[in-house]
Amino acid sequence: MMGSSQWHIEKRLSFRNESFVDRGDSESSQECGSLSIIVLGASGDLAKKKTFPALFNLYCQGFLPPNEVHIFGYARSKMTNDELRDRIRGYLIPSKNVTAQISEEVANFLHLIKYVSGSYDTEEGFRLLDKEISKYECEQNRQDGVARRLFYLALPPSVYPSVCRMISLCCMTKSDNGGWTRVVVEKPFGKDLDSAEQLSSQIGELFNESQIYRIDHYLGKELVQNMLVMRFANRFFLPLWNRDNIDNVQIVFREDFGTDGRGGYFDEYGIVRDIIQNHLLQVLCLVAMEKPASLTPESIRDEKVKVLQQVNPISDEEVVLGQYEGYRDDPTVPKDSNTPTFATVILRIHNERWEGVPFILKAGKALNSRKAEIRVQFKDVPGDIFRCKKQGRNEFVIRLQPSEAIYMKLTVKQPGLEMSTVQSELDLSYRQRYQGVVIPEAYERLILDTIRGDQQHFVRRDELKAAWEIFTPLLHRIDRGELKSIPYKPGTRGPAEADELLQKAGYIQTHGYIWIPPTL
Ligand code: NDP
Ligand code: BG6
Repeated sequence: MMGSSQWHIEKRLSFRNESFVDRGDSESSQECGSLSIIVLGASGDLAKKKTFPALFNLYCQGFLPPNEVHIFGYARSKMTNDELRDRIRGYLIPSKNVTAQISEEVANFLHLIKYVSGSYDTEEGFRLLDKEISKYECEQNRQDGVARRLFYLALPPSVYPSVCRMISLCCMTKSDNGGWTRVVVEKPFGKDLDSAEQLSSQIGELFNESQIYRIDHYLGKELVQNMLVMRFANRFFLPLWNRDNIDNVQIVFREDFGTDGRGGYFDEYGIVRDIIQNHLLQVLCLVAMEKPASLTPESIRDEKVKVLQQVNPISDEEVVLGQYEGYRDDPTVPKDSNTPTFATVILRIHNERWEGVPFILKAGKALNSRKAEIRVQFKDVPGDIFRCKKQGRNEFVIRLQPSEAIYMKLTVKQPGLEMSTVQSELDLSYRQRYQGVVIPEAYERLILDTIRGDQQHFVRRDELKAAWEIFTPLLHRIDRGELKSIPYKPGTRGPAEADELLQKAGYIQTHGYIWIPPTL
């Protein structure tokens, strides 16, 4: 029987055959010549788990044609090309059950990767890297093509400034006939407003904003990208999406595992910096923003910034922090750490559309389930003749992951002779509705956007600043120990105080009804 990952790869390979012909002409006439993708921090966790697998998927779909693309790994570790290839091979296709065709694709892809070792703060390694890239560009560009260089910083942020300096000094694209140099940076972008601004200025002195791609991988998720379409292409939602009809909005991230060997990193940041200030806040922007003037990246990002600027200061009474029991057993975590692994934070947007509507952002590690979703709860029906209020309110839910779905909880007549009501749903479950469609990984989509020069799904500098302005006062209070994390048992819903805060904010839980993702 075919494993699901094997099926996915085969689907992607067939996609290449079908779609590459379709896309081919218009895309390649704009962007031809050599493309060098340089993964800095190639020896690391993100590179092997996300960056290289995303590149492999793009390769399988024909977006990285072997006659145009070369991939370079760069890090301090001493490794041969083959050692790097061996390190990432197992992450490209998790399934052991691979066909000869897939093995051949893997081998061909790995063959495109070359490793260069060097430090992050001296010219020597970057000069060598530049030489290797140029050598390959000369081979590719015999017919006077364009040289494109994409630097992906899969590195700790502490080295971003020196790495960017070295790139700008030693590795910029030489060609001036339409070539480009772009730099992808990973979160966390700073630890608070000042450090983020400092980082932005350091990088900003070296590259234009149009060359900097700040990744927030939640912006690459299918259902996050669907938010704009849902809201602005459907008449249904236009008149309802406001304070007159919506009682509260929850944006939730839950993981059923702890910090999983990343305790050292995590303890420095905590759940607010790791998830809420970036991933959940980006989702909030898409839920709350006004309709952009057009679909250009700048129009969309202008509207996102406006929402962020309208968020009120966070009140201490609207925050609950938690830390799971056992978190401090990690040897890299201080025994007296107050770092939250769980937080519920209510944001309030001071504008005409949203005044009075709580946006409840909730994120936690080591909880009882893994999921991310947006839950929009509507107000009660006025003059309720059916007394259905007791059964629950209308909710519009966007399940970001797993089991991607959009569903509406609503009250209907219980089928039968009696006139009684029951909760049900209108359900658009992707697995069922779009059978055979492979939903691309967020990183895959975002790397492709970078190659195409589309910054819509990346965080602009002023957006980042506005996001830090919202959370910095709270974070400083947590750092100073003025707000304490409440212990909670792993495998639970987190501190009970968080559910109490939800209720206080107006959320009414539906009892006796649960949405079950359909199985095929
Ligand atoms: P790693 O800790 O694995 O570091 C990546 C590489 O950077 C290492 O292999 C190492 O390479 C080099 N490195 C590590 N520490 C230092 C240091 N102090 N100074 C200089 N170089 C160092 O990081 P990840 O791959 O986990 O993450 C990379 C970036 O992506 C980070 O900004 C992280 O926050 C972000 N990120 C990671 C995610 C993940 O799932 N891992 C998810 C989302 C974002 P060498 O020693 O060979 O040079
Ligand atoms: C990363 C966080 O940004 O997102 C991790 O640093 C978290 O702590 C991860 O596990 C979750 O991503 P996803 O795509 O699995 O929801």
